[in-house]
Amino acid sequence: MTIVIKTPDEIEKMRIACRLAAEVLEMIEPHIQLGITTNEINDICHDFIVNTQQAIPAPLHYRGFPKSICTSINHQICHGIPGGKRLKKGDIINIDITVIKGGFHGDTSKMFFIGEPSVLARRLVNITQEALFLGIKQVKPGARLNDIGSAIQQFAEANNYSIVREYCGHGIGREFHEAPQIVHYATPDRGVTLQPGMCFTIEPMVNAGKRSVKVLPDGWTVVTKDRSLSAQWEHTLLVTDNGCDILTLRKEERKLA
Ligand code: MF3
Ligand code: CO
Ligand code: CO
Repeated sequence: MTIVIKTPDEIEKMRIACRLAAEVLEMIEPHIQLGITTNEINDICHDFIVNTQQAIPAPLHYRGFPKSICTSINHQICHGIPGGKRLKKGDIINIDITVIKGGFHGDTSKMFFIGEPSVLARRLVNITQEALFLGIKQVKPGARLNDIGSAIQQFAEANNYSIVREYCGHGIGREFHEAPQIVHYATPDRGVTLQPGMCFTIEPMVNAGKRSVKVLPDGWTVVTKDRSLSAQWEHTLLVTDNGCDILTLRKEERKLA
């Protein structure tokens, strides 16, 4: 698989799809409350994407995924399937949104707290977000993919957390998952050199305990083997002439970027 360098016209479409994905996370925030089910969250997002945004929820039927968003709670790492379980006090939840608009994908996720999180949960969530932004800071023409993974791994492990290795970021565009893979740990190889016009996600999954994962019998939900808490944040990026644009940036994050 070769890496697609987006044309100016394709970049315009990426900007639109990514803005919509970010807006779904902004829209859903007031609904993430004690007692709501992940099915209800799914349905609100689905209706907003389809009816208001006139876009397509990319996860629905993607390789057989049954719902329109992913919801991953507590020790669930990623790809959680929305269901009838109600959110309870102290839960942490990742909501991962991918929309298709004008033939292009925008992919982004964030963590939410239900009520007051434990000290550990808050720290894990904040460190993971910081790790994402440290990775983003590496993104500019001439940098290597390994600069991203190294920065993220170093920071997470310095805080005594572990990085999930089985799942990674990815090129994105007309396809949901394009080349290259963006791993969140250091590799012996420096990896691909970044060029303007590349679009990819960074989406570190950070565990409070060991890095080992397990997939539940539903075939999708990925959990920590030791049942430790896990957090994830994701943005879609465009490499520009002098750095990168965070295409899925939300208003609340402008101070971080
Ligand atoms: N949004 C996820 C990612 O960041 C992929 C979800 S695939 C699904 O790459 F099928 F589970 F939706
Ligand atoms: Co992604
Ligand atoms: Co995603």
